[in-house]
Amino acid sequence: MGRKAVIAGNWKMNCTWASSVRLAQRISDCCDKKYPDIDIILCPPFTYIKGVANVFSFDRSDIQLGAQNVYEEMPEGIAAATGQVSVEMLKDLECSYCIVGHSECRQHNGESDELVARKVKLLLEHGIIPIICCGESLEVNKAGGTVEFVSGQIRTALEGLSATDVAKSIIAYEPIWAIGTGEVPIPEKIDAICAAIRGLVREMFGSEVAEAVRILYGGSLKPANAHQILPLENVDGGLIGGASLDAEDFHDIVKSAKELMKR
Ligand code: PGA
Repeated sequence: MGRKAVIAGNWKMNCTWASSVRLAQRISDCCDKKYPDIDIILCPPFTYIKGVANVFSFDRSDIQLGAQNVYEEMPEGIAAATGQVSVEMLKDLECSYCIVGHSECRQHNGESDELVARKVKLLLEHGIIPIICCGESLEVNKAGGTVEFVSGQIRTALEGLSATDVAKSIIAYEPIWAIGTGEVPIPEKIDAICAAIRGLVREMFGSEVAEAVRILYGGSLKPANAHQILPLENVDGGLIGGASLDAEDFHDIVKSAKELMKR
């Protein structure tokens, strides 16, 4: 298949400056420069990105940094966007990746599929790889509408992009009802949804792009279930919330990726 595995930590609104630096140091100690076959990405809160970047640049690390969101425009001249963080600022902070369309941002900030699409485009224009999240509510899941719902989100996010840009993007399937709950879909379901997303990419951009795009699973991914989820054919890694706040748990997931993902 040839797709490089991805293990990304989404720290959400956790840590202090000191604890984020400590966590980065611990992750550096156990994970850095040992897993060249895995893209290990950390996404701290905006305010701690610099502190975490200092830990890794000091080490000339191969762990990469991401943000958790970005403002959808890059205004020329005076930037009248109080409280926002621009794509240029993320570049300044050495971010190579940015999560977009996380269900918490869709819910708390009212981010629509169209707004998410603007963020994706802007990031790609500026050389930052988007980690595009999608995922259904429990209601949609129970009604059997997952594939249709998730396909709608991804179709809008990718429409109008070039094949090259889509091939380097990352998609994360995160059922809302699995995030932070300890509930996880059965592995067959995860694989089927990720296969459907890959099928949509194939329909929109062709086979080569579909084989290149990386699709992650997220939602209560832990050391205890990583061995069931990571080897799935259509899963190229994980987006990890809670378990990424513990260096050992995070490392256990990275180890599972190395042992189990035959790419
Ligand atoms: P979780 O979060 O691993 O704590 O469920 C995943 C996410 O929201 O990205």
